[in-house]
Amino acid sequence: MVKASREISGPARRRAKKPRGRAAAADRPADAGILSATPVLPDRRDAPLPAENLPLILEVAPSDDYALLDSGDGRKLEQYGPYRIVRPEAQALWRPTLDQRDWQKVDAVFTGDTSEEGLGRWRFPGEPLGEVWPMMYDGISYLGRFTSFRHVGVFPEQAPHWAHMDGLIRQAGRPVRVLNLFGYTGLASLVAARAGAAVTHVDASKKAIGWARENQQMAGMSEKPIRWICEDAVKFVEREARRGNGYDIILLDPPAYGRGPKGEVWQLFEQLAAMIEACRAILTREPLAVVLTAYSIRASFYSIHALMRERFAGMGGTIESGELLIREKSANRLLSTSLFSRWVAK
Ligand SMILES: C[S@@+](CC[C@H](N)C(=O)[O-])C[C@H]1O[C@@H](n2cnc3c(N)ncnc32)[C@H](O)[C@@H]1O
Repeated sequence: MVKASREISGPARRRAKKPRGRAAAADRPADAGILSATPVLPDRRDAPLPAENLPLILEVAPSDDYALLDSGDGRKLEQYGPYRIVRPEAQALWRPTLDQRDWQKVDAVFTGDTSEEGLGRWRFPGEPLGEVWPMMYDGISYLGRFTSFRHVGVFPEQAPHWAHMDGLIRQAGRPVRVLNLFGYTGLASLVAARAGAAVTHVDASKKAIGWARENQQMAGMSEKPIRWICEDAVKFVEREARRGNGYDIILLDPPAYGRGPKGEVWQLFEQLAAMIEACRAILTREPLAVVLTAYSIRASFYSIHALMRERFAGMGGTIESGELLIREKSANRLLSTSLFSRWVAK
């Protein structure tokens, strides 16, 4: 973990007095690193809390590009563009609705059989498939991808956040700067850029940044202003705070545990409060939203709601929290994927 108290002193601190990106320094801790190992978070007990809107359940319905076809017995059957894919799903405690034959007529099954990385962890009942295939989200082309960790290069349940952000950017009527932390394959970054924002995308994995750049090309959006940054999210946010760079919208979808490119350790439960504080500190003077998603189920959405509400005291706006769900095509059941909490200015 960076000793930011040391880094914020001297020239860097002087620079922070003249914010280049109009970062709102309002009650940014002046002398302590926001994300230092034992962060001292500002006490805002007298500041009014944002309004609240919960539970807010954001749901993804089946579409031609993506559909949750069925689930049950600890697995899910999904359609990703041309392919039907079976993957493990711990939440699917019920029985499948579709016939066993439907579960057998599939293109790929995640087995996780080998400890090796890559396609070996997938089984292709028909002809062997390549690592990637073309996909589409709301007119944006990108690549689906068989990865060793069971993921397929996209988290479709994030779509309501993308649509919400798209609306905020288009309605702003001014240049908007978006920061996508833990950005993975960059769908959110592409949606933001298409809506007209200048985007900064940060991820610790060189591989994921490469995939995101391929998606940018695939979408025909190479000319759009997206900065791709392979860095530890904590370090990046600390540096932006020191430089006085600000963002109007911040998305963060941190894993429970992760590593930065130089081995920096990310632990959600230890660092999330300081990270949210740091995100607040790098908002512009007219910010639009901060969207936090957590796939870690040791917490409830009430926990991340309470954290966001406390950390955004004095900012006005509303904190909306709930779950991201995918609606199943076969039985109309809802599959819960993650928790979220977002601060919205209006
Ligand atoms: C759950 S994925 C994010 C999914 C993404 N929001 C989406 O919808 O596609 C988590 C990402 O965090 C990245 N990551 C893990 N630890 C990190 C760290 N310390 N700093 C920056 N990124 C990190 C991983 O490489 C991975 O791409």
